[in-house]
Amino acid sequence: MTFDQNLHENVTRIALEEKIDTTGKDNPFYVRLMSDIDTISHLYREIYGQHQLADSLFESIIRTVISGYKSRESALIQRDEEKADQGTWFLSNELMGMSLYVDRFAGDLKSMPGKLPYFEELGVNLLHLMPIFESPEGESDGGYAVSDFRKVESRFGSLEELIYLRKQMQEKSMYLMLDIVLNHTSHRHKWAEKAKAGIKEYQDYFYMYDDRWLPNQFDEKMPDIFPESSPGNFTWIPECKKWVMTVFHHYQWDLNYTNPVVFREMLDNILFYANLGVDVLRIDAPAFIWKQLGTSCQNLPQAHTLLRLIKRCVAVSAPGMALLGEAIVAPREIMKYFGTGSFTAKECDFAYNATHMALQWDMLASGDTRVMLAAQHEILQKPYGTTWINYTRCHDDIGLGYDDYMIEHTGKNPYEHRKFLKEYFSYAGSQWDSPARGALFSSNPKTGDARISGSLASLCGLEKAVWDGNVAEINQSIQKILLMQAHSFFLGGVPIIFYGDELGYTNDYSYQEEPGKSYDNRWMHRPVISWEKNKRIHEPGSIEYAVFQSTRKLISLRKKLKVVSDHKNLSWLTPHNIHIAGYLRSYEDQKLYCVFNFSNKPAYLTWYAFKEHGDFALQLFDHWTEQSFKVGHDNEYLIIDPYGFHLFEPTKS
Ligand code: GLC
Repeated sequence: MTFDQNLHENVTRIALEEKIDTTGKDNPFYVRLMSDIDTISHLYREIYGQHQLADSLFESIIRTVISGYKSRESALIQRDEEKADQGTWFLSNELMGMSLYVDRFAGDLKSMPGKLPYFEELGVNLLHLMPIFESPEGESDGGYAVSDFRKVESRFGSLEELIYLRKQMQEKSMYLMLDIVLNHTSHRHKWAEKAKAGIKEYQDYFYMYDDRWLPNQFDEKMPDIFPESSPGNFTWIPECKKWVMTVFHHYQWDLNYTNPVVFREMLDNILFYANLGVDVLRIDAPAFIWKQLGTSCQNLPQAHTLLRLIKRCVAVSAPGMALLGEAIVAPREIMKYFGTGSFTAKECDFAYNATHMALQWDMLASGDTRVMLAAQHEILQKPYGTTWINYTRCHDDIGLGYDDYMIEHTGKNPYEHRKFLKEYFSYAGSQWDSPARGALFSSNPKTGDARISGSLASLCGLEKAVWDGNVAEINQSIQKILLMQAHSFFLGGVPIIFYGDELGYTNDYSYQEEPGKSYDNRWMHRPVISWEKNKRIHEPGSIEYAVFQSTRKLISLRKKLKVVSDHKNLSWLTPHNIHIAGYLRSYEDQKLYCVFNFSNKPAYLTWYAFKEHGDFALQLFDHWTEQSFKVGHDNEYLIIDPYGFHLFEPTKS
C-alpha cells in the first residue's frame, strides 16, 4: 500500500470537521484511522473506483466510520482496550457459546436476564441471539428477512431491553453475538417498498430487470438455494412490473453492492450493531454478496474485497468487535474467508467449521473416520490469529458439501456414499432401521442434492430409542450426543451449541401446522423450550440430567485446559484404527490426546499412538472419566467403548 499524502490530509480535515480530538482523547482512534486509511482507500477503489459517485461516497464512508466511533459509549471503548490487551481474545479456551431464538427459548428479551444463571450453570458465556430485528411474520425465514435493521421485532421486545440484557451479560463477563443480514432485505424493508413504488434511486439498491433477458442468463449459472420452496433466483414484482433478484426466498431481495450507497448504508448498520455492544458479528451469507453474470454468483473475489473493507472499517471504529463469516460453502472456499495473500488473517476473524461439522455426521453414520481425515489438509490451513466456530448442530440443515475427492480417497463412490448418508439420517431406502430420525431438506431433483434436517438428539437416535422405550438404546444415543459434542469442544475454536441440545431436545413436528413455517423443515430442530422439562436437569436418572450434566462437565474441562485454546496447535493422530478419530492438542508444556470411537463396537488403539509424537509418559490421565491409564506396550491396546472417548493428559507417574 502506498502512502498518499493528499489522502491523509483530506481525512485529517474530515476528522477535525467531525470534532475528533486527534491529539487528545481520540488519539488512539485517529492513529487507527490514519494507519488503515491507505488500505481502506485501496480496497474501496478496487470495487468502486470507476463509479461516478466514487469520491463523494468515499468521504461519506469515512464520516460513517468516524460517527460510528463517536457514538461508541465509553464503556465499550474501554472493553475494546481490554480485549486488545488480551491479544487475540477470541482464541481463548474459556469461550463457550450457545445459539438460541429469544422467543422460543425465553419468550422475549425481557425474560432473558432471568435466564443468565442457567447459562452460568452450564458454562456458556457467549450468546448468539438469532435474528431479533423487525421481520414480517410468516415471511421471515427465522428473522433472516429484515424489514428494519434498527428496530427490534416487537414480539421480542425493544432495543432498550436488548441493551439492558447486554449490560447484564457484560457484568457476568459474557459476550454477545448478533447477525447482520448483509445479502438481502425483506421485501417489506422501506428500500424495497420505495423500489416497488417506482423510485429509481431505490430500485438501484436491488437487482431489478424489466424482462427475463438477464434473469434467464443469471439463472443458467446460479444454483437454487431452496429448490423446493423457492426455485429460481428472481421474483416478479407486479407493483413496479420488474423482476428482482431473490436468491433465497421470494421475499428476500438481494442487495446490490455494485452501488456504493448500499455499501455505505450497510456499513452504517454494522457500526450501529457494534455500538449495541456486539462482541461477535455474524455476517449472514457473505458468499453471496457479489453477483456477476456467467458465474454461480458465490464466493466471487469482490465479495472478499468487500469483507476486507468492512473488517478495516470495523477495526478502526469498533476494534473489539470480531467478525464471523457465515460461509457454508466448499472446504477450499471457506478457508478464503479468513483472507488470502497480504490479507491473510485480515478478513473474517471467525468462520464456521462447516466442513468438519458435516464430517462428524459422516463419521457417526459410517463409523469410519477416513473421509474426515482426507479433508484435514484443507481445514488445517486456517491462519494463526483466526478461529473456528465449531458446532455439531445449528438452526440450519447439514449440507454434505465436502469435495468428492475426499470420499474417493477412501475408495468409496461419492454418489453412493452421500446416498447412504442421506438415507441413514432420514431412515429411508435401505436404511429404514437406522436409529436416526431426520429428514431431507431442499432436495433438488435436477442435481440429486439434498441436505439434512433434524436435532442433535434425534439424529443421534434418542427420538427412536425413547419411542421404543429401549433403555440400552437411550443410553447409547446419549453417548453419541456426548461423543459429537466432545469432538467439537476440544478441536480448537469456539464451540457453539444449539439451544435444547444441552439437554437432548428431540425433533418438534408442530411446525407442519404453521403456514409460515410448514414449507421449511428446518423448524423441526428449532425447539420451543419448556422450562418444566428443563427442571429435569437436576433430576438424576432423567435423560435431561444425563445430557445436561455431562455437557456441563465437558464445558468445564474445556475452560480448565488452556491447551484447548486455538494456537493452531492441533495434530491428527495416525489412523491406526479407522473407527477412531484422534487428535493431539499441545501448548507450552501441556498436551492433550483426544480420542473418539465413532463405531458401535469396542475399538482397539495401539498404545504406540501415544508415543509417536515423542511422548514417553507412563500414564495418561483421562479428564473425562477421571481415571489414570497405564501406557502399555506397542503391541497392546487401549480399548475404547462403543461411541466412547477419552481426553488424556500425559502424566509422569
Ligand atoms: C443463512 C442463515 C439461514 C438463512 C439464510 C438466508 O444461511 O443461516 O438460516 O435461511 O442465510 O438468510
